[in-house]
Amino acid sequence: MCGIVGIVGRHAAAPLLFEALRRLEYRGYDSSGIATVVDGKLERRRAEGKLANLGDILERLPLAGETGIGHTRWATHGAPTEINAHPHIVGGVAVVHNGIIENFQELRRELIAVGHTFETQTDTEVIPQLVSHYLKADLSPEEAARKALSRLEGAFALALLFAERPDLLIVARKGSPLAIGIGDDEMFIGSDALALAPMTDRIQYLEEGDWAVLRHDGAQVFDAEGEPVERTVHRTALSGAFTGKGNHRHFMEKEIHEQPAVIGDTLRTFANPTNHRIVLPDLPFDPAGISRLSIVACGTAFYAGMVAKYWFEQIARLPVDLDIASEFRYRQPPLDANQAALFISQSGETADTLAAMRHVRKLGRRTLGIVNMAESTLQREADGHVRTLAGPEIGVASTKAFTTQLATLACLALGFAKARGVLGADDEARLSQALDEVPARAAEILQQDAAFERIAQSLTAARDVLYIGRGTAYAIALEGALKLKEISYIHAEGYAAGELKHGPIALIDDQVPVIVVAPPDPLFDKTASNLQEVVARGGKVVLLSDLEGVERLSSYAWASIALPQVDPFVAPILYALPVQLLAYHTAVLKGTDVDQPRNLAKSVTVE
Ligand code: G6P
Repeated sequence: MCGIVGIVGRHAAAPLLFEALRRLEYRGYDSSGIATVVDGKLERRRAEGKLANLGDILERLPLAGETGIGHTRWATHGAPTEINAHPHIVGGVAVVHNGIIENFQELRRELIAVGHTFETQTDTEVIPQLVSHYLKADLSPEEAARKALSRLEGAFALALLFAERPDLLIVARKGSPLAIGIGDDEMFIGSDALALAPMTDRIQYLEEGDWAVLRHDGAQVFDAEGEPVERTVHRTALSGAFTGKGNHRHFMEKEIHEQPAVIGDTLRTFANPTNHRIVLPDLPFDPAGISRLSIVACGTAFYAGMVAKYWFEQIARLPVDLDIASEFRYRQPPLDANQAALFISQSGETADTLAAMRHVRKLGRRTLGIVNMAESTLQREADGHVRTLAGPEIGVASTKAFTTQLATLACLALGFAKARGVLGADDEARLSQALDEVPARAAEILQQDAAFERIAQSLTAARDVLYIGRGTAYAIALEGALKLKEISYIHAEGYAAGELKHGPIALIDDQVPVIVVAPPDPLFDKTASNLQEVVARGGKVVLLSDLEGVERLSSYAWASIALPQVDPFVAPILYALPVQLLAYHTAVLKGTDVDQPRNLAKSVTVE
């Protein structure tokens, strides 16, 4: 993963590089570092842990220099120690790298055999070792870089800095994104355009296999064959302003509370609240002309896809294949001639999701991205895209991105159903009205915050927590368990309620809280029976249902929360909020790092 940034500049580079790294922290926060060229030498500051640690070091030991590179790391090879932190420097060459060099062991052996010594456990260190090896053989920096690049296998975006060349940066992209920013006699590079937003709005995106030589007055871009190429300069609309936490303790809390507004914004792009009609945006395929739909995503976005599978199948009568992107890309599933594919991603940069999308495009099937980050790779490369309007999501645990994905997918399901002639005007009006009410009902749930905090108090001591549900509530059970484990580090699992008796029920005793997600849908009675099975074995049930459901079952539950009464169609959007709040409060009470939980990153750009 990792975020990289670089400047060939005319001003002090370190503060600008540091600010850019703040914007890239979503890519990893195990360690960070900056190197600059000062009087013909490479100077470097690095720190283990969060970026703030590097900030402290830079305050004590400021870094001069107007040309430099920076890195924020999510460790793949080698522990997240200072020694393994980028930039890596060998013989007057510094590198920052995002991705994995798959043949690093072979290259390392080869270099050791000719006398090189390695000081880190990273795959990255072979890059400056190789480049400096070629420099010693009297190649120019450009020739040495090109030769080294031709030896590297795997995925990378990288930037090379040379001690004796404050006028030069060499960058390359294969498999990982890289943006070039054009300034006024200054050039910038970054893992995304957002990192460069305070410095410039003129952006060129390198394409697969490209490498480029940056000097103050511009970038010379070459394709994989070494031929000079022109890459379009875009004016990015990304804002230079960086969002703060407002009055909230954490970004996650802020983002949970933004949901009524951002769900409303997202819904308004499809649904006309005055006549309760759904209007589909431009799509790269005709929903009436497809025989099947593949939905592919990772993490929380995958669970949004899971809810969508129920919606598309039940409402639009469209068969759906649902896949985790890392499985889909290597499974090589046969696709129908009329099969289209939908990819869901908050960042639009998840490596496995992008690889899956490219695989489908290669097969000649149409691809649609549901994406939150404007100008992301998924948005740029898919045949079509629909934006969720969650706004920037900073907390690593996804909240408002998930519910805006659900809002988008709900509208698409209704629009597809209409286009396929299986949704009457009355049902369209009823379901779209139910959607219109979601922001107000979501606000009501947020007002019950204190009740979730009370329940969370007793979750903090749990070793294991189970979440169960049926239908779309099964997907919410899975998402609830994911939220709890990622930010509170409590082991949690989501199960289809009917599957409990096939194994997980063996885990239940009076120490195991079981969160029962039971909206008032046609499966309520079935879930109620599963709840009884848990109670009969001493399990501590936390019931999430509406008033009627709570009245029926609260006497069996250890705790219950009555949520607003809604149409079952929209229940998964709303029932996402309670599981977010339970996870959030549990993590806060346990004192974990809620916004940047250990070992995780917001955007996973390695496979
Ligand atoms: C990471 C994040 C998750 C996210 C997943 C997919 O694991 O921590 O919150 O759901 O990646 O990311 P995407 O940007 O593709 O939605």
